[in-house]
Amino acid sequence: MKDFQILEKYNKPGPRYTSYPPANFFHAEYNNDNYIQNLKSSNSQKPENISLYIHIPFCPRLCHFCGCNTTIMQKQDAVSRYINAVIKEIETVAQYLDKDRIVTQIHWGGGTPNSISLDYIGKIMQLISNTFIVDKKAEIAMECSPAYLEFEDVEKLKALGFNRLSLGVQDFNDDVLKIVNRQASKHPIEDLVSTMKDLGFEGVNVDLIYGLPGQTPESFKKSIERAIKISPDRIVTFSYAHVPWVKSAQRKLEEVGLPSPEEKLEMFGIAYNLLTQSGYISIGMDHYAKPNDELSLALKNKKLHRNFQGYCTKETTGQIYGFGSSSISQMNGAYTQNQKDTNKYMNAIEEDGLAIERGYELNNNDLICRRVINEIMCNGFLDFDTIASEFSVSAEEIIKIVDYKPSKLDQFTEDNLLSIDKGKIKLNPEGFFVVRNIAMEFDPLLNIGENKYSKTV
Ligand SMILES: C[S@@+](CC[C@H](N)C(=O)[O-])C[C@H]1O[C@@H](n2cnc3c(N)ncnc32)[C@H](O)[C@@H]1O
Ligand code: SF4
Repeated sequence: MKDFQILEKYNKPGPRYTSYPPANFFHAEYNNDNYIQNLKSSNSQKPENISLYIHIPFCPRLCHFCGCNTTIMQKQDAVSRYINAVIKEIETVAQYLDKDRIVTQIHWGGGTPNSISLDYIGKIMQLISNTFIVDKKAEIAMECSPAYLEFEDVEKLKALGFNRLSLGVQDFNDDVLKIVNRQASKHPIEDLVSTMKDLGFEGVNVDLIYGLPGQTPESFKKSIERAIKISPDRIVTFSYAHVPWVKSAQRKLEEVGLPSPEEKLEMFGIAYNLLTQSGYISIGMDHYAKPNDELSLALKNKKLHRNFQGYCTKETTGQIYGFGSSSISQMNGAYTQNQKDTNKYMNAIEEDGLAIERGYELNNNDLICRRVINEIMCNGFLDFDTIASEFSVSAEEIIKIVDYKPSKLDQFTEDNLLSIDKGKIKLNPEGFFVVRNIAMEFDPLLNIGENKYSKTV
């Protein structure tokens, strides 16, 4: 057992670095016209391939812990209106994109995309294949809630071209699910996963969360053991992000009582030990993948990447164009976010074809900081010389831009979380437990503006 107690020292609020700068820096002066400019320039930026993200903001029932952008399931005609808006948005954005670029990734998230009629999903998939060139090996994935997933749905999704499904299990213990108002899986997860494997899905993920009311280290250990037995390609153990100032429903969990920080750390330690001992490779802070999974290979080759959907590889993920309410586009030079409110989103699309609420254009310093933070967050390795040659500046310039001083890392070196050799910074395996804290030392924007983040562990 590693000494996980040291994490207590580092458990303070900080960005999750799903983007750099984090989403709280996106601003409302950015509008549809800026987006059109950025769409056009993204045609000549690297990576040149296209990733599409489609957001479905509906759930039949709302879990009290949920940090995602979703609302209670609407009536059929509202869902149909929403789908028509997404179709119009794809058609509008496609006008500005070079259609010779190849789509290598299509990701459906939410909310619960599998809770709407799969005919809607089919309609949009058809539009995508009529509009773009979709690579034969494209990763086509959906975040599914097993509460609404039938075996026939899995077959239909396969027929629509999906090859990766993520099952939001969260916890196998029904008592925990009841406390957080979550509908349990309709069918045993074991049977759903074996159906997926029989049908030839290339990737099966299972999402779990630790830090929910009702969970104890012992109960969470059982959930991890069951997940390992099911043997999905990837297991994600999210640390429950408690942000009641953004998600007021989370206050209900405070009333029930959240596990103590010590218990939460113990759950993290149990998951890490059990998963790595059973052969999973630990990726970043919360992902675990089988050794031959592309995430594990990307980590080995220092090609791991991170975006709003989690860890990914540079090969598969290109410039990401988001569709649907609240969806975020992640281009090399800019981030944009659509209207979060679904009605505002639909009204804006019906009127203008686009629905930008806020965005951020990166300047050269931001691009450099993002690159540095990405190296720390994903690959646990930082060589200023390599980044300097990529940006055609000196290493000293990079160091100045990220405001780095070796003394800032003293505490991490003393705690044996990283080592510095000839100026190159390398995280030890335990360093990944506090990777957000380490990345924060290279973030010059951290003390600017009003920032409120969840805790790092
Ligand atoms: C859009 S949801 C997944 C799909 C589906 N709606 C479900 O719940 O199964 C994406 C994932 O975000 C994670 N998540 C949601 N709220 C969270 C929170 N407050 N903290 C950490 N992870 C969270 C959950 O593990 C969930 O599986
Ligand atoms: S089903 Fe998923 S998206 Fe919907 S409320 Fe629950 S966690 Fe959030």
